[in-house]
Amino acid sequence: MNVLIVYAHPNPLSFNQSILKVVHNCFKDKGASVRLKDLYAERFDPVLGEAQLSLQNEGKIPDDIKREQEQVTWADTIVVIYPLWWFDRPAILKGWFDRVFTNGFAFSFDENGVTGLLKGKRAIVVVTAGGTKEDFGKNADQLTKSTTEGTLAFCGITDIADRVFYSVPIVDDEARKKMLKELEVLVEQF
Ligand SMILES: Cc1cc2nc3c(=O)[nH]c(=O)nc-3n(C[C@H](O)[C@H](O)[C@H](O)COP(=O)(O)O)c2cc1C
Repeated sequence: MNVLIVYAHPNPLSFNQSILKVVHNCFKDKGASVRLKDLYAERFDPVLGEAQLSLQNEGKIPDDIKREQEQVTWADTIVVIYPLWWFDRPAILKGWFDRVFTNGFAFSFDENGVTGLLKGKRAIVVVTAGGTKEDFGKNADQLTKSTTEGTLAFCGITDIADRVFYSVPIVDDEARKKMLKELEVLVEQF
């Protein structure tokens, strides 16, 4: 199994960092090859600007983005880990998708509509939130959707597990350990 972890949290002491460690170690224990994309540590430039768009319109991809795409191609499993920021992904992660999951690489359009080009891959999406599940009410099942549906499923990835951990800044250590245990089980069973 080739696992690409795409991780978006700027603080190395965050709970997201603990999640990253658990996921990394669990996949290693399963015998997987694991590669990590730590977007803040790499100072990934998330802005899809005129230079790349112009190239794309000529059917070309910048070399640095080609290298990112090679990592995606290598992976049969993509794990995305991030905190919920304004009901969505941190901008650096959104921008990674903007720039790397390009038309012609991750999906294509024709008169019949959209074709996902990443079919056959699997994914896990792990999100932490500050709010309680009750805070989100009927929207609680929407928290991962921008990534699971809007991006991954759009690109043909249908085997997707997702998990949201709520109230992360306010719960005690015991509750956090329980969350990490839950995650271990999820990865073991994946
Ligand atoms: C810019 C920003 C936006 C946030 N937006 C939300 C939000 O929309 N909903 C929510 O429940 N928590 C929100 N939070 C709280 C974070 O999701 C929460 O602190 C984080 O998931 C906790 O994990 P960590 O300790 O690893 O950072 C936001 C935090 C920041 C910094």
